Amino acid sequence: MQAELFPVATAVLIAETFVLIVLLIGWLYGARRLEFRLHHRAVYSVILIHAVTVGPWMIMRAMLFASQGLFDDPISSWYQILHDALGIIAISLGFIVAVVFLIRRDMPLRLLKRTRPVMILILTLWVVTFLLGVMSYIIGWSAYLPS
Ligand code: HEM
Repeated sequence: MQAELFPVATAVLIAETFVLIVLLIGWLYGARRLEFRLHHRAVYSVILIHAVTVGPWMIMRAMLFASQGLFDDPISSWYQILHDALGIIAISLGFIVAVVFLIRRDMPLRLLKRTRPVMILILTLWVVTFLLGVMSYIIGWSAYLPS
């Protein structure tokens, strides 16, 4: 790992922690209390922050790791492979749900009921992906972390 990239990885970790807190607030105080404005604000901030973290940084790093033999020893890099796969699924599902609600702005109750389990699945995948990301950070940047 290149030392000069350590601050970037740390900044991304902080941004992702913030994103997770915003998502949890959107769920606990937004969706569960039927405060859809709060829920929507949380979701759109998450999309914005993700566009500048996962987009340029994680995709670039994932491609680099893949070219450097990530899949040669999948057992020892299981957490990174799982992180990337679950992250892609969570983001894709989130994107689909966001587009569905942008098209159906009237939010019919039937659509809300049908998408609820998908949203809970996205949140669960998100938390697991985040924890695997923290694991990847600790293992990958251990040389630069204070002991
Ligand atoms: C729900 C979506 C995601 C969350 C919450 C998430 C979270 C995190 C966190 C907290 C880190 C540690 C910070 C760091 O090391 O930079 C990380 C690292 C990483 N993530 Fe993600 N991630 C997500 C999606 C993705 C996706 C879709 C990919 C690529 C396919 C990806 C690839 C990576 C890679 C390669 C690293 C290691 C970067 C490095 O330190 O060199 N992540 N992720």
